[in-house]
Amino acid sequence: MMREGTAPLIRRSDYAAPAFWIRSTDLTFDLDPAKTMVINTMQVERNTEVQAQPLRLHGEDITLTRVLVNGASVSFRHEDGMLVIDALQDMPAGPFTLEIRNTCAPAKNTMLSGLYISASGFFTQCEAEGFRRITYFLDRPDVMAVYTVTMRANKAAYPVLLSNGNLVDQGDLDNGRHYAKWHDPFPKPSYLFALVAADLVARQQNIRTRSGKDHLLQIYVKRGDLDKTEHAMNSLIASVVWDEARFKLRLDLERFMIVAVEDFNSGAMENKGLNIFNTKYVLATPATATDDNYTDIEAVVGHEYFHNWTGNRITCRDWFQLSLKEGLTVFRDQEFSMDMAGAETSRAVRRIEDVRRLREVQFAEDAGPMSHPVRPDSYVEINNFYTATVYDKGAEVVRMMHTLVGREGFARGMTLYFERFDGQAVTCDDFAQAIADANPESALARTLLQFKRWYSQAGTPRVTARGRYDAPTRTYTLGIEQTGAPNGHGAKEPYVIPFAVGLIARDGRALPVQLEDAQASGATEQLLVLEEARGFYTFVNVDTEPVPSLLRGFSAPVILVDGLVNADLLVLLQHDTDPYNRREAGQRLALSRLIAAASGDAPLELDAPFIEAMRTLLRHPALDPAFKDLVLRMPSESYVAEQMSPVDPQRIHAAREAMISQLARALRADWEWAWTAHQVSGAYSPDPVSAGKRALANRALAMICRDAVALRDPVWQGRTYQRLKSATNMTDRLGALSALIHAHSEAADAALARFHDQFRHEALVVDTWFSTQATAPELDGRVFARCKELLKHPDFTLKNPNRARSLVGALCAGNPAAFHRSDGAGYVLWADRLLELDQINPQIAARLARSLDRWGQLAEPYRGLARETLSRVAAKTDLSPNVREVVTNALAN
Ligand code: BES
Ligand code: ZN
Repeated sequence: MMREGTAPLIRRSDYAAPAFWIRSTDLTFDLDPAKTMVINTMQVERNTEVQAQPLRLHGEDITLTRVLVNGASVSFRHEDGMLVIDALQDMPAGPFTLEIRNTCAPAKNTMLSGLYISASGFFTQCEAEGFRRITYFLDRPDVMAVYTVTMRANKAAYPVLLSNGNLVDQGDLDNGRHYAKWHDPFPKPSYLFALVAADLVARQQNIRTRSGKDHLLQIYVKRGDLDKTEHAMNSLIASVVWDEARFKLRLDLERFMIVAVEDFNSGAMENKGLNIFNTKYVLATPATATDDNYTDIEAVVGHEYFHNWTGNRITCRDWFQLSLKEGLTVFRDQEFSMDMAGAETSRAVRRIEDVRRLREVQFAEDAGPMSHPVRPDSYVEINNFYTATVYDKGAEVVRMMHTLVGREGFARGMTLYFERFDGQAVTCDDFAQAIADANPESALARTLLQFKRWYSQAGTPRVTARGRYDAPTRTYTLGIEQTGAPNGHGAKEPYVIPFAVGLIARDGRALPVQLEDAQASGATEQLLVLEEARGFYTFVNVDTEPVPSLLRGFSAPVILVDGLVNADLLVLLQHDTDPYNRREAGQRLALSRLIAAASGDAPLELDAPFIEAMRTLLRHPALDPAFKDLVLRMPSESYVAEQMSPVDPQRIHAAREAMISQLARALRADWEWAWTAHQVSGAYSPDPVSAGKRALANRALAMICRDAVALRDPVWQGRTYQRLKSATNMTDRLGALSALIHAHSEAADAALARFHDQFRHEALVVDTWFSTQATAPELDGRVFARCKELLKHPDFTLKNPNRARSLVGALCAGNPAAFHRSDGAGYVLWADRLLELDQINPQIAARLARSLDRWGQLAEPYRGLARETLSRVAAKTDLSPNVREVVTNALAN
């Protein structure tokens, strides 16, 4: 590991084309856990468009054994962690052969980047810069080569040998070894390389696509897990069908493989033709996976599959362009999930969930020390920039383009994008230009340069809207003003903001919206496009004073300040036809009460109008249960914290707990009705309608349990325990378990023991067992104490990323009240585990490090304690560059 000195800052403005191209590489691996030998034979050419210079190859944690140019030895040196071959500067134009031999040590690779070992064998992870940990290379995405890969390994231990592309040869060797040779005809950047040599089995399926071509789909898992791959296979088939139908993008491979691995840093990886997945996003049976797990699997399988076009066929010129592939592909997977959800209301539920994540995580990121534009300007460690901003805000930027050019126009833009850039490594500018050029008359084309500020400016813009009704003229004038991000990241130029608006009468009617110069159309929604710092819009023929429904569907990633009062929000909660804003009205009603209680001295006391509004919602005869569940889920503590300064996590927690307990009590009979009325019978199906019923029933059960514990009433606690025993699927079983744990029921310990006993051999369920305990509402320090005990549990290890996240991540990032303690013990636990983890896996450590990002907003004593702890970590001299970058940024604010 390179740990001395400070890692340099990489700047976008320093981009330079490579001095050499690698046209092809022929790789041979002699796989051995302790010492793997790699022979890398490349066809290289000088890039005659740039000034002649030595060849500089990336390489990290590998041992060089020989270098040959056109078969002859050549002198080389190591400089700044790179292998430098000076003589190649004088090469004539045209190809030459460069052969490199090196070794690496997969068994020692606990970072899980490059070639590493997991239980069943060898796996690789190369994005972003892992390929250099396998062999010396121009490990940058604008260098694309054709790969031929030969693997040799012990046949009994590693019967399956996979790499990208097509299998061209295989056979047995001496000493119980065997080999396989793969060829990938598509030139690709090194980050898309993958290799697997393991003891696996596959579910396979042949499909014929619309174009009449046959393809083999395979999902590889460890022996014993085959029965858990059906949903992933269905999701993969659905993804292939969807991309062809919606974007005319066809599967370009004869063979498409997914491999599941237990030890994996992220969710999944789109390697060409050989996606590698965290088991969490592949394996599911009704008995072991929840509805949410099923939903996530569909989304992640889709996401990685869609990268085959948006990421692989057209890739990124440099890592600053990461959102080119990630923002766009998140947009695509969100659209896929919405289309799969079917009914309008199920689509809306997906949108609400996506936006909730954006506002909880990305808005916080944008207001904190790691704030950066969708297309960052600099970084120290690229792995720290796989962020909510690049992904989720990036997806919103693509969505705004979609809004501005329309669905058909966007499809045309995508077609033009592929016509222009297929097979190339390009930039975010190239993408935006293609969408605009395909829609020359659109607001996007007209404002493109300004629109692209969404890529270049960091921070969340604030939009203030004020409406005024004039009864005599029956007009309603809406003034909208945008101001730059409030987080001091320099002056901001105005954005192009698509702003969808509706008007609701106080009696609940959706009023027609007609702008003053426009014809009456009867439409009840209008898209405004704000380009200046402020704009005024007058609606005519408005026959009564309306309540405005603003930023419908969250049409732009902004903070909206609208001055709506309780009475307005109650109207929207009851009547808004836009489900996003309808739910938002309920959240706002809750939020204002939480903030008042957390910042004032009076304890929270829920008022009758709020309670009645929630009851009406819960009992509504027509609304979708999944939607009701989202309305009745109170704003999270971290979301509330983002709306306050200074932040007192304990007061927020107390207020929110009081709110939920009062809702549990006041609606007790309604929750019991909801529980009974939303039972799902018959065979398990993860469809949105059944899942929505289960979600609402489980929320009802949690509320009833909470109230029962408060009343010391054993009946419902007993029933919940019965449910834990008799449930026929994991969603319901976990619903019962978490109801008992989160209510601190006396039956909790028995429930935990029983659950663990039943699922001790299911790693993903054991993760859930840990995280359910780590996210329980804190009560007198009991949850924190339990977490400390769990760190010593025989099933706990920091070496497996899923397990580390399920306990330490869940506590530090998902349970503010257990983490932010007035004695600072939460921060001590964080620092100790962080330093330990940094020695094992810096990428995972750096993500954990971010749970103190927002320390500067904390009230005392938390603020002082957090700063002290951060400084203690920063004082260590052997931090990885990953963690160093995060803590340095945190302390700089
Ligand atoms: N390309 C990424 C995988 C990746 C993540 C590589 C981080 C290197 C560092 C992949 O396409 C991805 O985005 N995966 C997501 C899941 C997705 C559904 C948003 C992930 O792993 O979290
Ligand atoms: Zn991705």
